[in-house]
Amino acid sequence: MSKNKKTFYVTTPIYYASGTVHIGNSYTTIAADTMARFNRLIGNETLFLTGMDEHGQKIEEAAKKAGRKPKPFVDDLALEIKNIWNNLDISNDIFIRTSDSEHIQGVQKIFEKLLEQKDIYLDKYSGDYCVACESFFTKTQIIEEGICPDCGKKTIKLEEETYFLNLKKYSNKLLKYINDNPDFIQPETRKNEVISFIEQGLENLSVSRTSFNWGVPVLSNPKHVVYVWIDALSNYITALGYGSINNSQFNKYWVQGDEVVHIVGKDILRFHAIYWPIMLMALNIPIKFKLYVHGWVLMKEGKMSKSTGNLVYPLDVTKRYGVDALRYYLLRELPLGNDCYFSYERFIEKYNADLANDLGNLVSRTVSMANKYLNGEVLKTESNLIYSKDLKKLANEVVKDYDNSIKNFRIQDSLISLWTLISKTNKYVDETEPWKLAKEEKNKELIKEVIYHLIESIRVISILLSSILPSTSLKIQDVLNLKNDDIKYQNIYFGFLSSTIIKVKAIVLFKRLDKDEELEYQTNKKQGIETMKVKEEITIDDFNKLDFRIGKIIKCEKAENADKLLILQVDINGNIKQIVSSIADNYETEELVGKKIVVLVNLKATKFRGYLSEGMLLAASNKDGQLEVLEVNKLDNDAVVD
Ligand code: MSP
Repeated sequence: MSKNKKTFYVTTPIYYASGTVHIGNSYTTIAADTMARFNRLIGNETLFLTGMDEHGQKIEEAAKKAGRKPKPFVDDLALEIKNIWNNLDISNDIFIRTSDSEHIQGVQKIFEKLLEQKDIYLDKYSGDYCVACESFFTKTQIIEEGICPDCGKKTIKLEEETYFLNLKKYSNKLLKYINDNPDFIQPETRKNEVISFIEQGLENLSVSRTSFNWGVPVLSNPKHVVYVWIDALSNYITALGYGSINNSQFNKYWVQGDEVVHIVGKDILRFHAIYWPIMLMALNIPIKFKLYVHGWVLMKEGKMSKSTGNLVYPLDVTKRYGVDALRYYLLRELPLGNDCYFSYERFIEKYNADLANDLGNLVSRTVSMANKYLNGEVLKTESNLIYSKDLKKLANEVVKDYDNSIKNFRIQDSLISLWTLISKTNKYVDETEPWKLAKEEKNKELIKEVIYHLIESIRVISILLSSILPSTSLKIQDVLNLKNDDIKYQNIYFGFLSSTIIKVKAIVLFKRLDKDEELEYQTNKKQGIETMKVKEEITIDDFNKLDFRIGKIIKCEKAENADKLLILQVDINGNIKQIVSSIADNYETEELVGKKIVVLVNLKATKFRGYLSEGMLLAASNKDGQLEVLEVNKLDNDAVVD
């Protein structure tokens, strides 16, 4: 069967199920998502894998600390993390969990195969182990006795009967592979790190543990569980069906596949650049993948960690500023090969400058000018003005640059390049001054040209934006009323759009933020003080208009035609009022009878589903939809509320 589409398989590391994800590890997922979206856009058959690393001592301990058994503990986390990725517009095709039975079978097969061919053998291990990194260290690697050279936490002394993977046997072959494939590990500095690590001499790796059992049992010797990194690394192929009956995806995306990309942070370089390719060589599977290694998102106190309490969670950012604002910041700030810093101060600055001012303003002023000068109707024109020619030229160059950068995982560069087009388009407005042109009838054709060029540039921008800021891109394309063909990558070249009618009169993509106010909000939040959002201010006179009374519920029934409604008869100092309230999910009818509640009695009577309601009861509710009516316990129902 002949293949006509190129395949692209991209993966994130699978995240430890010891806790939730923060914006640091969200970066890896957002970057992988960007790669996946771009490859889908350009027509590659794309598969995007992410998931969770659920086994090992670290997770067993985290579950224990939470007073839970490991499986329900990781089940809950899996739901939580899937929900976070969903919220961040992550478009993964597969979410693997190392507790999935197909994965477990795959790992067991891998282990047995390596055992059978004697690449794995049984012996004794005695040395240092870091539970936080799930990592073994040789004497030469330990810099300070009892301290992990990677994360600085305490190591434990291990003495166990264990299986070893023969890394030494493959070390020269791996070195040769790295040298023969110069783009295997990127950036270059990371590649050099790996080479020097191998050149210092590899020790064989302990690949099983006997001191706990939350892991994949070794099939032929179940008192051992497979070392968590062997278990975890295998996910990249077990997710494709390697080791199960249906391995068609493994053949398609790996064996016969065109491009396989693993995106990882620098802390897990060694596992991916040494252990994983050696496992593949031993299994006689082509190495196939390229490894893109990124740096860390740091806080001013250093790396984000639970112990310093400086973790920033993605949904805390997105709930206030939107998903695309977070995606933008992380993708824009982290260069390939270096670290970046996160602070709300910088975040707000970038948000205001790049999103609200540059991009947001461009779209909003263009939409309003298209409406004002052309009634929203835009038709293709020639590029007569020198400014139009320049804009067109730059747009076509930016498309090439962007394409080239993103294909090589230089996402920051692709964004920088895209923003040059956004700035240039803003400059084009200043250069052509449409508001001046509009003053004279003779400029009618020029106005048409300017607006067409603005819209066309924004169309190109929106196509490129679709991999990085998917929802903003969709919003723009919707407002510009672009058709399917207008947003295809093959039609991205400047001048493709033949006509459109803008859908709205005005649009605000990113509302400008008041920096001081936001920083104060974030400081208060950190100190646990939530800034209250209050409704519009009222005066005491306004308040005095409200007539609240205490009433005793004397009868309560369900409404016949509405599940949520209850019909209450309330005795207010001898007057019986009927109140309809949507609290049926929270109370049984008999539970309410006898309660003394607060009722607003001078609210204009109205009907709900045919039932007359002569007031409103007061109740409190929380985010989860729990609701409680406000009660008065000591006073009688002739008391007055004031
Ligand atoms: N479970 C292993 C990976 C196994 S893959 C076969 C693991 N998990 S992790 O949850 O600790 O980290 C997952 C990813 O998040 C890694 O790529 C790591 O580099 C990345 N990051 C964790 N903290 C980070 C920052 N502060 N900044 C950027 N990336 C960070 O390792």
